[in-house]
Amino acid sequence: MPDVTAGAAASNPHIARYQARGLKGRILSGVQPTGNLHLGNYLGAIRNFARLQSDYECLYCVVDMHAITVWQDPAQLGSQTREIASAFLAAGVDGRKHIIFNQSMVPEHAQLAWIFNCVARLGWMNRMTQFKEKAGKDRENVSLGLYAYPALMAADILIYKATHVPVGEDQKQHLELTRDIAIKFNNDYAAPDFFPVTEPLIFGAATRVMSLRDGTKKMSKSDPSDFSRINLTDDADAIAGKIRRAKTDPHPMPETASEAEKRPDADNLLGIYAALADMEKDAVIFEFAGKQFSEFKSALTELAVDKLGPVGAEMQRLMKDPGHVDTVLKDGAQRARAIAAPILEEVYRTVGFLKP
Ligand code: TYM
Repeated sequence: MPDVTAGAAASNPHIARYQARGLKGRILSGVQPTGNLHLGNYLGAIRNFARLQSDYECLYCVVDMHAITVWQDPAQLGSQTREIASAFLAAGVDGRKHIIFNQSMVPEHAQLAWIFNCVARLGWMNRMTQFKEKAGKDRENVSLGLYAYPALMAADILIYKATHVPVGEDQKQHLELTRDIAIKFNNDYAAPDFFPVTEPLIFGAATRVMSLRDGTKKMSKSDPSDFSRINLTDDADAIAGKIRRAKTDPHPMPETASEAEKRPDADNLLGIYAALADMEKDAVIFEFAGKQFSEFKSALTELAVDKLGPVGAEMQRLMKDPGHVDTVLKDGAQRARAIAAPILEEVYRTVGFLKP
């Protein structure tokens, strides 16, 4: 894994505090409980969550308040929340050493988000591509929460003064906004270095996993076709069926990286293989150069079942034990609040709110 923090630390008081404890910083990241957790979420984010935990102090959050920016069935939201928490645990995150919790149990997120609504500028929000994509043509009819979403996301991160945020490529713009909010708050309130200017951690061979049905479209929870994604809870037969039906082109496997780049479906499958095998994509291209897709797809199926099977099985096991998952979340939320409450108090003082 590259040392993504190199260089940034020396002059950054927020990072220096962790370095004194032999750590590289504090991480916060989140995943929405909106169903259909997929391979993109796993390779782009959740697997990295587990891999970073020996070097950072980590908080991993199931962002249920973000989820309701679009309609969620109240009868499902609780089990969807537990499903994401189960995925964190199944991927190997240690919920005792680190913190796993759901957002709505820590009200300080929403309290800071309001202040950030007053820091962020409309012009900044209007540039958010994810809002434009999600709102589509029906902009008048989407929730105000969907528009304000990135300010809540900034609050998720900065209520812990987190220094680093592991995410997939699609969250990059939201993290740039988080940095802008931190800088503007620090300037407006003449509080230099109050909030850290957070570093994104986007790494691995699959930072943007594409749909299995269309290599130019992101793999997504909301794609109506289940064949577009591999869900973390898919069994071996489902994984095999989806890879068999994954879109390819009529040519043999690409021979070079530049050829692969021009063939998005092939490039996507090669990236998935590389990420699952922990190989460089170039090495995978070399191994399968000129071979038939059928041969590559068999190897990919075997690899995917081997790597994802145990994670899916552990998730299923945990989901049958909601009491245990609820305990992890509740305990995590208590520890998260212990960090967030004093930071919110400092923010309130800085803003000039009177204390009760
Ligand atoms: P969400 O729930 O859409 O996705 C969770 C994580 O999965 C990554 N991801 C992908 N990575 C690679 N390829 C894909 N096709 C793919 N699809 C999703 C996302 O980049 C993300 O890391 N806004 C966030 C949730 C959030 C958050 C936060 C993240 C709320 N507050 C604070 C970090 C810090 C979201 O909607 O992720």
